[in-house]
Amino acid sequence: MASTIHRASTTAPVNIAVIKYWGKRDPKLNLPTNSSLSVTLSQADLRTHTTASCSSSYPSSDSLILNGSSQDVSGARTQACFRELRALRKAIEDGDDSLPKLSTFPLKVVSENNFPTAAGLASSAAGFAALVRAIANLYELPSSPTELSRIARQGSGSACRSLFGGYVGWEQGSASDGSDSVAFQVAPAAHWPNMRALILVASAAKKDVSSTSGMQTTVATSSLFASRAAETVPRRMNEMQKAIQEKDFEAFGKVTMMDSNSFHATCLDTYPPIFYLNDTSRAAIKVVETINTAAGKIIAAYTFDAGPNAVIYYLEENEAKVAGLFKAALGEKDGWVGKRGDAIEANGEALEKA
Ligand code: DP6
Repeated sequence: MASTIHRASTTAPVNIAVIKYWGKRDPKLNLPTNSSLSVTLSQADLRTHTTASCSSSYPSSDSLILNGSSQDVSGARTQACFRELRALRKAIEDGDDSLPKLSTFPLKVVSENNFPTAAGLASSAAGFAALVRAIANLYELPSSPTELSRIARQGSGSACRSLFGGYVGWEQGSASDGSDSVAFQVAPAAHWPNMRALILVASAAKKDVSSTSGMQTTVATSSLFASRAAETVPRRMNEMQKAIQEKDFEAFGKVTMMDSNSFHATCLDTYPPIFYLNDTSRAAIKVVETINTAAGKIIAAYTFDAGPNAVIYYLEENEAKVAGLFKAALGEKDGWVGKRGDAIEANGEALEKA
């Protein structure tokens, strides 16, 4: 008799930080040196779709296929996620003999992104969030998004924030086992639903310096880094949460741009220096300045992750002034492709269960 194949699917959104995570105090557990905050983007344009399955008939080792190509699952991060999820499933199986022993079966995970992988578009965030959620669904775990965020964090730090919709914080925590380093929802998407994100793909190439190695070198060599982690970010976390609560776009935009600048300044202050921004990125910064000067106030805010692609936040009522001007100024030339996240995650809560 053929063995049953157990299967579950989910999707996970990308999140783009407005207060950046950059630096680990514990590289093994992915514990950060500072808290961070992000906006979860619409899944219409940017999302990972993942199916997890398991069966006693599968070949003996776990496997992961991303965009059609086989990935190495032996890395410590993927292994940590598999191990934690299996342990939670095993605890349930131990208490109920009638359940199939899924925790003992090999896992097969198949994932697809609808955007360039590893180009500074937070693909690892959506990827690990979807992987953890898909396996949790497969194992029928009763875990909360908070608990899943603790597991996803071990796959990729920023992934913990993709377990929630809306405006999401990641508390750095202080416990040495990482139990309190989890994501939390600052506000649901419905609180401030007219937020928009324009994503400008300056380059879809894989980034030169991975976040993991870049931030390790920054922690080891940058003299700006210590004050960023100890003073600048804690202050900005408070300012940003207040701006979101009060739906104050000028404050939101100012802190977003200043934190992106601060993060890229510490990259430049790293030795050897890390350059994520390029001429196209700097052109985008100029366009945002022109838009804000013409408006007489901040109506557009740029931010850049570990790559040259710009994400521009703005409110829907300024669509013509912001997205329109970007289109006119940059169009499709110089390798720019405009993509707009229609809305932040509409359900405000976590991801759909498939
Ligand atoms: C610049 O989450 O990719 O996007 O934990 O090593 O996988 P690892 O790093 P990752 O770093 C993201 C860095 C960032 C800022 C942010 O998203 O907060």
